[in-house]
Amino acid sequence: MTRVVVCGSLNMDVIAQSTRRPVAGETILGATVSFLPGGKGLNQAVAASRLGAKTAILGAVGGDAFGETLREVLADNGVDASGVRTIGKSTTGVALIQVAEGDNAITGASGANMLFATSMVGREPRRGEIWLAQFETPITTTEAVFRRARAVGARTILNLAPVVRYPSRLMKLVDIAVLNEIELAQATGRRITPKSPDRDIVSACGRLGVPTVVATLGGRGLVIVSPDGVTVLAALPAKVVDTTGAGDCFVGALAARLAAGRDLLDAARYANAAAACSVERLGAAPSMPTAREVAARLARA
Ligand code: RIB
Repeated sequence: MTRVVVCGSLNMDVIAQSTRRPVAGETILGATVSFLPGGKGLNQAVAASRLGAKTAILGAVGGDAFGETLREVLADNGVDASGVRTIGKSTTGVALIQVAEGDNAITGASGANMLFATSMVGREPRRGEIWLAQFETPITTTEAVFRRARAVGARTILNLAPVVRYPSRLMKLVDIAVLNEIELAQATGRRITPKSPDRDIVSACGRLGVPTVVATLGGRGLVIVSPDGVTVLAALPAKVVDTTGAGDCFVGALAARLAAGRDLLDAARYANAAAACSVERLGAAPSMPTAREVAARLARA
């Protein structure tokens, strides 16, 4: 098994659960609040590690108590956090998450995440490793590490979340892109909705300029567009509590399975089952399943 290296964000998620979301200008009471570890990078690293991959994370936290807590979470989950820098003059990333009606809306305060410069990357890619990144840390850093990864024969997975402006040359450094339907619409300028027909999803995926694209479509499932063709997988049934981090679970599980030498389709089926497990628990990182849980879910499918 090869190593998974995540170059990405670490956040403290402040989650308010309520029966509905307030509209602009409205105050609602009766929510419950939880402080749970998150950040797309940390979530993906925890998912990969819980599923058995040797995993490391590169990123930055602030010089505060949240940063210390996130380091403890990584250690508890067996993730090598020696590449996480502490930027004393900054704050650890925070995400304000509203969970209502089985869905979530997130506002991020990036803090140290966006200060994670290329010069702070303390690890070189090795042949065969799987390198993951998202869009919650500087694109210049992602581009630099992906360029190095490509140069030595490591594989690169980019989760285009959340979509920001990026140079098209970045896509030439990506082996597998993973994004949801909102991100697909934003990245391609196409009108994509959760109900768009598969052919529209496939066509939009083709515009990204990446050999393999996985569009994750929530309760509908996923569409994989690769040089081998198009594959559509239905989502597995789940009792949804909180969808936060389900996409991250998918990406981390996909990477873990690829690191174990499985092919793309096997890895995507596995990741689909992992994501179904994750939505049944509150929070992002805490909802990542174990290999035993995913195996049980696959056996029931
Ligand atoms: O994808 C979910 C994650 O997005 C949350 O954990 C939050 O921190 C934001 O990064």
